[in-house]
Amino acid sequence: MIYLDYAASTPVDPRVTEAMLPYFDQFFGNPSSTHIFGQQAEAAVENAREMIAQALNCQPHEVVFTSCGSESDNLALRGAAWAARQERNADHILISPVEHDAVSHTARQLADLFGFELEFLPIDEYGIISPEAVAERLRPGTAIVSVIHANNEIGTLNPIAEIGAICRDKGIPFHTDSVQGAAHLPVDVQELNVDLLAIGAHKFYGPKGVGALYVREGTSLHPSQTGGSQELGLRAGTQNVPYIVGMAEAFRLAQAEHGTRQAHAQILRDRIIGTILEEIPDTQLTGHPSERLPNHASFAFKDMDGNSLLMFLDIEGFACSSGSACKTGNPEPSDVLTALGLSREWGLGSLRVTVGKDTTPSEVDTFLGVLPDIITRARRLNI
Ligand SMILES: Cc1ncc(COP(=O)(O)O)c(C=O)c1O
Repeated sequence: MIYLDYAASTPVDPRVTEAMLPYFDQFFGNPSSTHIFGQQAEAAVENAREMIAQALNCQPHEVVFTSCGSESDNLALRGAAWAARQERNADHILISPVEHDAVSHTARQLADLFGFELEFLPIDEYGIISPEAVAERLRPGTAIVSVIHANNEIGTLNPIAEIGAICRDKGIPFHTDSVQGAAHLPVDVQELNVDLLAIGAHKFYGPKGVGALYVREGTSLHPSQTGGSQELGLRAGTQNVPYIVGMAEAFRLAQAEHGTRQAHAQILRDRIIGTILEEIPDTQLTGHPSERLPNHASFAFKDMDGNSLLMFLDIEGFACSSGSACKTGNPEPSDVLTALGLSREWGLGSLRVTVGKDTTPSEVDTFLGVLPDIITRARRLNI
């Protein structure tokens, strides 16, 4: 099998596994316990917090550990919305129409069950949100703004620093989902002007089931998971010590090796994009041609079903992905492709190819060698 789905998940780096191992059985204490076992575990969690804070350029107490990127997004949205309502009577939530479900479904629930007003920002043909569009829609009653840093489905990067500056100027909390972005780009929360930023370890060669939320000091947030006072009272529950240690090491490596990883990925990505657009008729790139994740290539093929394509690819030994809606057998184009304005005949035939730090040029060439024929077969099925 050739794995080309690194935006879905990545294998755990052996250096990360090594860092985690002692915390399963040797230093297994509860970080909240007073005795030496607890102290060892607590020291590991606090060391990890410092490592993440250093990589994000923030203070350690501004890092909250969670169970995944989705939970970080949930805490940011729900926590900021509830606090804004209580403190400022603010009810307006402003998000982009190309957010990951972790943001969009949370915002939708806040609107449907809790009476918040949900407004969607306009996007351009590449899925970019303009700072001007945010400025035009901000109100004193805006509780929270959320704009995705790097889009998981189409790879497009957003002007987060500019949007953040506008929100900062008006005193409105600004969240970005950087679950994809932080895996590939240098993430400095001061430069990005964000108040809240979500990451998830399994996108950067860390374990699944652990994430973090950056919470700028002074940002009002209510916990959405209540109980003990762990994580500065923002996220109750005994911390997952080995996974937190693993995430910190994985994030340190991702930031330290960012330059080489990016250069490696970008060459492969550009080869994939160039060859597919040249060799396969009725194909378009989805997302921005240059302002995109360095490892991310995404396409729409006219008159083809993305599900069939993934099946054929799987049989031939390639793991890729399509619009998230196709994954569930739902024959509708994904919300993101629909928001981009793609018609059904284009939107159903999406493909996402994402490379990793260990993907080789020969793996990419093998894939590109067989793809045109597989597309032809998938299109035949569509007739
Ligand atoms: C942009 C984005 N946000 C959030 C998530 C959810 O992260 P997790 O799988 O850690 O819950 C993902 C995962 O695919 C993602 O790509």
